[in-house]
Amino acid sequence: MNTKKLAALAAGVTLVMGLAACGGDGAGGSGGGGGGTEGGGETTTEGGGTVGVAMPTQSSERWIADGANVKEQLEALGYQVDLQYAEDDIPTQVNQIDNMITQGVDALIIASIDGTALTNQLESAAENGIPVIAYDRLIRDSENVDYYTTFDNYKVGQQQATSLLVGLGLLNEDESEGDATGPFNIELFAGSPDDNNATFFFNGAMDVLQPLIDGGTLVVKSGQTDFNTVATLRWDPATAQSRMENLLTSTYSDGSRVDAVLSPYDGLSIGIIGALTGTGYASDDLPIISGQDAEVGSVKSILAGEQFATIYKDTRELAAATVELVDTLLKGETPEGLDTTTYDNGVKIVPSIQLTPYIIYTDNVQELLVDSGYWTAEELGI
Ligand code: BGC
Repeated sequence: MNTKKLAALAAGVTLVMGLAACGGDGAGGSGGGGGGTEGGGETTTEGGGTVGVAMPTQSSERWIADGANVKEQLEALGYQVDLQYAEDDIPTQVNQIDNMITQGVDALIIASIDGTALTNQLESAAENGIPVIAYDRLIRDSENVDYYTTFDNYKVGQQQATSLLVGLGLLNEDESEGDATGPFNIELFAGSPDDNNATFFFNGAMDVLQPLIDGGTLVVKSGQTDFNTVATLRWDPATAQSRMENLLTSTYSDGSRVDAVLSPYDGLSIGIIGALTGTGYASDDLPIISGQDAEVGSVKSILAGEQFATIYKDTRELAAATVELVDTLLKGETPEGLDTTTYDNGVKIVPSIQLTPYIIYTDNVQELLVDSGYWTAEELGI
């Protein structure tokens, strides 16, 4: 069998960004940022093989953009695409993947809702010789996951924590030591416990925060530091909002102040901000709050001085790396040079491609998000 060193790995991020830039599209693929496929699914009918693309939800901009970018880039190579969204409902995603297999797709790209719920579907994909690529979220506990394309998820967590330290003045943006000394009150939120990424984000963040907690510079006043206690099922903003409200009532009604909140996702940050402003924090005097995904509303919030930072993961790059991988496989070639140490799904190490995330602060919005064409100045209201 032929082998092929993927351009994404051979040339690094620059080339992938180059590919993404060729389309001339923003985060949402053609039609601009945040746009994308309407409705539950869409099948196109040009070209050779068919690729099934299962995405978790349209309730968040990033997944709309991911679906649109993967679809557009596969179609540009002549593939047919069956793109489906499951609105965070596990049985719906299971059915969608069953249907894709029955319909005879040549490859599956899956961003799972629950990374352990697809065992039977993956078995049947393997029996039918359909390669499976876990997209952004690792599918756990199955032999039948062939590849994993994602970002450096541990680093995302480290960056989220770093952004909090910068906001508090403990670090400067160049990560040199800042002037502040603390102690500062901090509360912690994590993502959905059934998403493998959530533990990577949390562990990466705690890697940075724990020494400062141990040294007394940061104080988790609620005492809630355990992953399962701070996790947010299905990444639901309303769940985060009500947990923040409870924390404010249980722990901060003595007049003390929350200085920072570790939030792993922009949607949760919005819920957390809602709880804070609803309990008397002025929108120009909020704690330092992190995020992830550089969603339009949250970038605007950063520019307005509410949320402090977010993590930018260029979904165009992830789509380009994934499409290149699928194309390599469907041409009968074997991809080379993948990372074969980092992602153990409980049964095996899944060969992965990991792209680079970036911290977004007010002062690099223009360079990283606007100049790269991810969002237009108009979309961000600047
Ligand atoms: C993704 C994040 C996203 C989160 C919620 C995670 O698996 O990696 O980018 O914020 O899901 O959708």
